[in-house]
Amino acid sequence: MEHVEVRLGNRSYNIQIGYGCLQHFGVAYTDLGLSKSVAIVTNPTVSDLYLKPVKQGLERAGCTVSVLTMPDGEEYKTLETAHGLYGGLIDAGVDRSSMIVALGGGVVGDTAGFVAATYLRGIDFVQVPTTLESQVDASVGGKTAVDHPLGKNMVGAFHQPRLVYIDTETLRSLPGREVAAGTAEVIKHGIIRDTELFKFLEDNLESLIGLELPPEDLVWVIAQNCRIKADVVSSDETEKGLREILNYGHTVGHAIEVVTEFKEFKHGEAVCLGMTAAGKIALDKGMWHKEDLDRQTELLRRLGTRIGVENLDPLQILDRMGSDKKVRDGVIRFVLPEAMGKVVTCDTVTRDEMLAGISHTMAVH
Ligand SMILES: NC(=O)c1ccc[n+]([C@@H]2O[C@H](COP(=O)([O-])OP(=O)(O)OC[C@H]3O[C@@H](n4cnc5c(N)ncnc54)[C@H](O)[C@@H]3O)[C@@H](O)[C@H]2O)c1
Ligand SMILES: [Zn+2]
Repeated sequence: MEHVEVRLGNRSYNIQIGYGCLQHFGVAYTDLGLSKSVAIVTNPTVSDLYLKPVKQGLERAGCTVSVLTMPDGEEYKTLETAHGLYGGLIDAGVDRSSMIVALGGGVVGDTAGFVAATYLRGIDFVQVPTTLESQVDASVGGKTAVDHPLGKNMVGAFHQPRLVYIDTETLRSLPGREVAAGTAEVIKHGIIRDTELFKFLEDNLESLIGLELPPEDLVWVIAQNCRIKADVVSSDETEKGLREILNYGHTVGHAIEVVTEFKEFKHGEAVCLGMTAAGKIALDKGMWHKEDLDRQTELLRRLGTRIGVENLDPLQILDRMGSDKKVRDGVIRFVLPEAMGKVVTCDTVTRDEMLAGISHTMAVH
């Protein structure tokens, strides 16, 4: 098992990562002295696959476990779902000293985390993420939220988990498109912070998305991503500065998701397009070397998440960027690479540079 610490004073916690370790979750959980009263929140897809080892492990370790199921899909990451879960928690007698365990991808993690942040003014929770996106990104860092009809993640809270427990073997049942989309965040982490990770991806991308890496390498990749996210979050928990770098590729990417009404692209696929745009903007500004942009382009090409791009309207995407959460004082902020493994935030990107970046996305993909 690899252990990564998220250092946040008395709210610090561990991320434990292994291959085939789900059956040992109960022991790892009780070793930390956490509450014996547990409510697992999951969805039917994940429940069919992984509820049994998690529930039995907790029960064997002496816990009383109730299970709450929410429907599968981003469209259920809502206050209505949270409302239903509150009712389930009350019915199950879950009190302030109880624990919520979120078992599933980012949708379950964000929703269950939000419920934990708000139920009885906040109770503890643990993340057991089962998608690549959630293992390398969503489960770490304490951002929890539900969506509002007028915007994604609009209602939320910072609420750190007590433990993140990752079994990388669960990725084996994940559809290929989900694996590829999650890999976009892995590429992002390489570009913003880690040349070693980026080089590893250049050498092993196909094995990673085909889930053919040796188990120890898969664990290393996930742990490396958790280390990057943990480091950034430890120094800027609530995104006042450094944490913004995690938004590389997300300014344009998020606008593309909104314009296509979250139907055409997986989040990671849109982030790929956003990284292409940001890379081109950095090149045009003379901040980034052509060779580095070419390395990024080549890796994204190999990831092969290119769909529907030709139907997008650059002007519509540009318009949408103006009403994003990342806009501060009316200025659209970009995260731009300066060197492989190093990015800066920039609020001096001109409209023409943005348009050139967005249009480049369509030319490349
Ligand atoms: N809080 C954060 O910091 C943060 C960061 C990134 C993303 N997110 C959020 O995460 C969400 C996306 O998460 P996601 O990509 O994990 O999507 P998801 O949770 O919808 O999971 C994708 C699909 O895979 C299924 N699934 C989950 N684990 C599986 C497994 N092991 N085998 C087979 N199927 C499995 C799910 O049921 C779902 O159908 C978005 O709502 C996004 O906003 C949050
Ligand atoms: Zn993302």
